[in-house]
Amino acid sequence: MSRPEEIQASYGRCLKNKDFIGRFYELLLARDERVARMFEHTNWTQQNRALRRGISIALTFAGGSNIVQRSMDEMADVHSRRGRAPVDPSWYVHWRESLLQAVRENDSRMNPELEQAWAEALKKTTDYFTERY
Ligand code: HEM
Repeated sequence: MSRPEEIQASYGRCLKNKDFIGRFYELLLARDERVARMFEHTNWTQQNRALRRGISIALTFAGGSNIVQRSMDEMADVHSRRGRAPVDPSWYVHWRESLLQAVRENDSRMNPELEQAWAEALKKTTDYFTERY
């Protein structure tokens, strides 16, 4: 079984590639043009930084720690019906698949167990956003 620290370590290896987050967004935007349209006016420098931190928060949350509860709630609010960037819950599969693909491409130590652990952690995050939609 992969522990939360192993996912964080995998994420650390991915971030060594400065294009990791950019690659994730490239994959995400290619999956659905409705998703791409949401980012038409986005400042990418800012957004890449926000997501890098967001993923770290999500992994900490998925690992069972509640020190990031407030940050998780803020991110969920941004993407809720009444938020600044509402995300239809059915789109989260694209987010998860794109991130998993970017991790596969960037972590040379990826293996089936670690991939499963990543998948579960990302699912916990998007399930939480969906609950608060
Ligand atoms: C298909 C899924 C998603 C879509 C389409 C989406 C879309 C967006 C958009 C359009 C913005 C605003 C960008 C701008 O300022 O122009 C945003 C911000 C953000 N998203 Fe997402 N998002 C998705 C999933 C997620 C998930 C699962 C996370 C969790 C880590 C996340 C974390 C963030 C953060 C941290 C911000 C910045 C919030 C801020 O500026 O305060 N997003 N997202």
